[in-house]
Amino acid sequence: MPAVTAQNTAIPAIGLGTWELRGRLCARIVEQSLRLGYRHIDTAEMYENEREVGEGLHASGVRREDVFVVTKVWPAHFSPPELERAAKDSLSRLRLSEVDLLLLHWPSTRIPLSETIGALCRVKRAGLARHIGVSNFTGVILDEAVKLSSEPLVCNQIEIHPFLDQSVTIKASRAHGMTVVAYSPIAKGTARNDAVLARIGKAHGKTAAQVSLRFLLQQDLVVIPRTSKVERLAENFAIFDFELSAQEMAEIGTLAQPPAVTPS
Ligand SMILES: NC(=O)c1ccc[n+]([C@@H]2O[C@H](COP(=O)([O-])OP(=O)(O)OC[C@H]3O[C@@H](n4cnc5c(N)ncnc54)[C@H](OP(=O)(O)O)[C@@H]3O)[C@@H](O)[C@H]2O)c1
Repeated sequence: MPAVTAQNTAIPAIGLGTWELRGRLCARIVEQSLRLGYRHIDTAEMYENEREVGEGLHASGVRREDVFVVTKVWPAHFSPPELERAAKDSLSRLRLSEVDLLLLHWPSTRIPLSETIGALCRVKRAGLARHIGVSNFTGVILDEAVKLSSEPLVCNQIEIHPFLDQSVTIKASRAHGMTVVAYSPIAKGTARNDAVLARIGKAHGKTAAQVSLRFLLQQDLVVIPRTSKVERLAENFAIFDFELSAQEMAEIGTLAQPPAVTPS
């Protein structure tokens, strides 16, 4: 499985997104994804599906050490005692002794970042998470997080797809040695309707969704598409056997709009 490596941490280049997957369907999709070759699962306490993600993981028969499991702490739990409790609760729902990556889901305006980052580092040192990182951090707050952390922050997970120009935050994250993980990598499904992506895909025998994912992979981004359909699991995974030309990459690059909120 291809991976993106930064700070000695290899993150499998494609993971399964699980937002809005619930109940038996969630467990089944996670299990099927692992049987198909996915080795990276993205969940969060906020998704209320960690129990089912754990079920799918355990039912798949894939060895624990071969899967990169990511979860996230919600800002309501960013005070130090609550963060530690939230991490333990996530592990108990997932039925795991540690996750591979624990992320702060969004910056908080309420709890001082220094306290939260300190707690996140302690959770890592206690062995509950092999690696730690952030999500939806931009600009100054990203710099601050890195400065405050005594442990490496290996990743920033942000929204990226062909219709959104996130070059500023990608550059800032990489300047700190972080891997950038692209969430909503097929623009919540809307990439499938794009005429440019569809035309380019046709030339490669691929779908517009696959072109959207491949466009991100070729920029050394990790992608975590979500689907509730088994056939689309295979479709989204079949992105390692073709290559977009420099001209195709440039044309897709013209589709992007700046983020709605300027990073600060
Ligand atoms: N850190 C954060 O704040 C944050 C925020 C948002 C998301 N995420 C993570 O990123 C993951 C992915 O993002 P996302 O769920 O927002 O959006 P996404 O993966 O870009 O798109 C998911 C949507 O696309 C459809 N889809 C999937 N594969 C397709 C294909 N091959 N062709 C056409 N349609 C397809 C799915 O429908 P079907 O189910 O019908 O296939 C679903 O409606 C999430 O699940 C979550 O794990 C993180």
